[in-house]
Amino acid sequence: MHLKAFLTFVGLLSPALAQRIVPGAYIAEIKGTNSNGFMNKARTHGIKVRHRMTLNQETSIFNGISFDLEDDTPENRAKINSWGEVVELSPVRLYDAAAPVAKQVTRDVARLISKRAAAGGPLDAYPPHVQGGVDRLHAEGLSGKGIKIAVIDTGIDYNHPSLGGKFGPGNKVAFGTDLVGDRYDGQNTPVPDNDPVDCAGHGTHVAGIIAAVDKDFIGVAPEVTLGAYKVFGCPAASTGNDVLISAFLQAQADGADLITASIGGPSGWTEDPWAKVVTRIVEAGTPCSIAAGNEGAEGLFYASGAADAIGAIGVGSVNNLNSPVVLTAAKFSSASINGKEFGYTPGTGSFGTKTYELYIPVVDGQITDACAGLPADAGDLKDKMVVIRRGTCTFESKAQAAAAKGAKNVMLVNNVPGAVDVTVTAPGVSVGMVIPETGAEWLKLVGQKETISVSFDEEATSIITAVPNPINGGTMSVFTSWGPTNEMYQRPHISAPGGNILSTYPLAFGGYAVLSGTSMATPYVAGVIGLYLQKAKAEGRKVTPAELRIGLTTTGRPLVFNDGAKNSTFLAPVAQQGGGIVDAYKFLHSKTSVDTDLLEFNDTQHFRESMSFKITNNGDKQATYKLTDIAGATAYTTQEGSTLPQAFPPTMLESYADVKIVPNVLTIKPGQSKRVVVRLTLPAGLDAARIPVYGGWINIASNGQDRLKIPYMGVATAMKKATVTNFEEGYPVLLNYRNESIPVNGTQVTRPPVLAWALVLGSAVVRVDIVCVSNPAANDVPVFTDNTIGSFPTYPNYWSPRNPVGERYLAAWNGRVVKQEGDPSIKVPAGVYKFVYRALKTTGRKHSGRDYERWESPNFVWSP
Ligand SMILES: *[C@@H]1O[C@H](CO)[C@@H](O)[C@H](O)[C@H]1NC(C)=O
Ligand SMILES: *[C@@H]1O[C@H](CO)[C@@H](O)[C@H](O)[C@H]1NC(C)=O
Ligand SMILES: *[C@@H]1O[C@H](CO)[C@@H](O)[C@H](O)[C@H]1NC(C)=O
Ligand SMILES: *[C@@H]1O[C@H](CO)[C@@H](O)[C@H](O)[C@H]1NC(C)=O
Repeated sequence: MHLKAFLTFVGLLSPALAQRIVPGAYIAEIKGTNSNGFMNKARTHGIKVRHRMTLNQETSIFNGISFDLEDDTPENRAKINSWGEVVELSPVRLYDAAAPVAKQVTRDVARLISKRAAAGGPLDAYPPHVQGGVDRLHAEGLSGKGIKIAVIDTGIDYNHPSLGGKFGPGNKVAFGTDLVGDRYDGQNTPVPDNDPVDCAGHGTHVAGIIAAVDKDFIGVAPEVTLGAYKVFGCPAASTGNDVLISAFLQAQADGADLITASIGGPSGWTEDPWAKVVTRIVEAGTPCSIAAGNEGAEGLFYASGAADAIGAIGVGSVNNLNSPVVLTAAKFSSASINGKEFGYTPGTGSFGTKTYELYIPVVDGQITDACAGLPADAGDLKDKMVVIRRGTCTFESKAQAAAAKGAKNVMLVNNVPGAVDVTVTAPGVSVGMVIPETGAEWLKLVGQKETISVSFDEEATSIITAVPNPINGGTMSVFTSWGPTNEMYQRPHISAPGGNILSTYPLAFGGYAVLSGTSMATPYVAGVIGLYLQKAKAEGRKVTPAELRIGLTTTGRPLVFNDGAKNSTFLAPVAQQGGGIVDAYKFLHSKTSVDTDLLEFNDTQHFRESMSFKITNNGDKQATYKLTDIAGATAYTTQEGSTLPQAFPPTMLESYADVKIVPNVLTIKPGQSKRVVVRLTLPAGLDAARIPVYGGWINIASNGQDRLKIPYMGVATAMKKATVTNFEEGYPVLLNYRNESIPVNGTQVTRPPVLAWALVLGSAVVRVDIVCVSNPAANDVPVFTDNTIGSFPTYPNYWSPRNPVGERYLAAWNGRVVKQEGDPSIKVPAGVYKFVYRALKTTGRKHSGRDYERWESPNFVWSP
């Protein structure tokens, strides 16, 4: 959201922009008619509507239409709402591709190094596959064959040789469609066509993670059949929930075994129409995996739609243990080595197409860092390339040290894994960097008194190498959005490699890219589900979405917390990681199952005194299970002494709930089940005002081996007591059309004022009502304790997520009022007025005035 650009026109700014909705665009769920019938009815009532999308008539899941209301007035909306055919009218909301947080696009990749083991090694040594246990499933011959996965995204570049090269039946990308056309930006009307080729990149990357078959790496389920449902234009901006609903419905109607979407946006409410459609599709038997979101920086209580839909599988991201690094190819030779390829990152300047002799000064057995200058006997280095180790002093002083000896070319050796682009300003100096491994190889040759020469080619291709990531490899990516939802449901359920992932990219953009995001983790899980479904199908078993969600979540492996820089000693909160990293092998092979994915204990007011679950022994031998509790860190939602949310990383405490499991030892015969009850006592010594979120895992072991871990979590405060409005930063505030606050009682305004409000927690209902101060008799509409003339048009505002840091909602008045929700609006005469703002607290009841926060504006003199 880039609200700043609009604020100069604040008087004209509709609240739509603040809420990421398309002005004038609506979705109507309808019954007993179709979209033509709806359009005709609108015409006969003299309401001008422009058709956007027909939301699948054939399916029993959802029948609807989206349209633009040319004259977007409360009168017209009220009329439409009053028709018997209209089940619900809701605005078109915008969602984004769960945007990659880092991006490295490669061009003309010649070779992908060390992606798969050499002949004779395991089948699949691709590091992310080893991390999530997929390599062992490939070794069993599972490939996803016969399973159809629908990818809702930017389309797929099916021309990519690793993605089949063609589109249509019989190919890898066999079905799907373009729902929007290349020019679609989220706001304009979609213009569908039937070619879902990707022109943005994101979907091709996602598709490769699921199903690429490349000479150097393969997808998680390389033989699944993909459906490409293109829901973004080029470049991918936003997409409407009408488009998403349509895509999900079509994918379901096309017989997809699984629908996956690496798309989302701040929500945390299960009531958005897209989330509701996802829930209905899951209930009808088709599983949906959806990215948990990349809003980790915002802290807790920031769940994303539609990962938050009831029944959806929300997926978080884990960093690749090996970061792929894109390097430019060059060669080196010495007495014992002939033209060996290596890679470097080019920095300032260029080495041209040329061969240089390396000058490698060694100090104390290491390549020098040149912080004290180069050796006095260096001689003239004009035609040589100087090799210097990174560290101790700046790149600039290293370049200066080389320049002082006449050198024009410097190759730095990294002192941490990987290589970076380096910029220096020393005149005439070109610089590059090699990975530590290359430096070590050169140092060894120097020890053997060999002279090394390096050859560069300006037209050189890229190579990709994987370097270990000891900083945050194998832990949760900091960008993963944290739960819980505003209704205390946990998201994500499970996490998978999504940080620093190499995959296919449209050929026009170079063919490969390294991207990061929950967008990359979600297709990994989709691929794992593909393998599971293939195995179940072979066994003649029908699988429910719940079996998948529970199995994935409870076979996960909890990870230690990492703040982006280092591992902690404690496990990351359940609110961040759910079940932890996916363990695909265990998921497919577990002989024990449970009937719940998560134990959500809710807040203290709605505290679940006890929760129970059933353990089933699917093995062929009697098993004795031992149940224990594993604690995850407790995290605070707000800053100390404040109602404002804490940005990442939140304060974490090693204060844990006391968990009683009854029975904690039980013997179950093959094919039988037994029930277990869990009771817990909240962690002690917490500051309840900071909204602590606690959690852990119920570990189920047998024969000395961990079988399953059920994540549990809850909120150690009464959420109804928590402040939802950002009063602390001066909201709500009444502004004039010039964006100046109107602080004085009785300020005269000729243009309608704007109410700016902001939330520190999501609110299910925000109302703004108008009170006539100069003529109390006009206040004929009671709103809880206030007598008002009615409501601000377009309010109440339902299911608002909390604002990201520094953002707010704007309610621009139009000088009118609505008596009852759904009624036409009427003009407000001159007089003295005030606004009354109310926000429903978390878990509050819509019809109880006491469950709202209330604020009133100063009086303003309205003289239109
Ligand atoms: C409007 O006012 C707010 C709050 O004072 C400020 O943050 C914002 O930058 C202002 N916008 C413009 C366009 O002046
Ligand atoms: C950090 O923790 C993760 C997850 O347990 C592990 O895979 C990784 O190796 C650890 N990193 C270091 C440097 O210890
Ligand atoms: C927690 O309690 C609230 C209020 O009853 C309810 O709306 C919500 O669904 C509950 N959440 C969970 C996860 O059970
Ligand atoms: C405005 O005036 C009313 C009535 O005189 C008073 O109750 C209210 O507190 C005043 N508000 C402000 C912000 O001064």
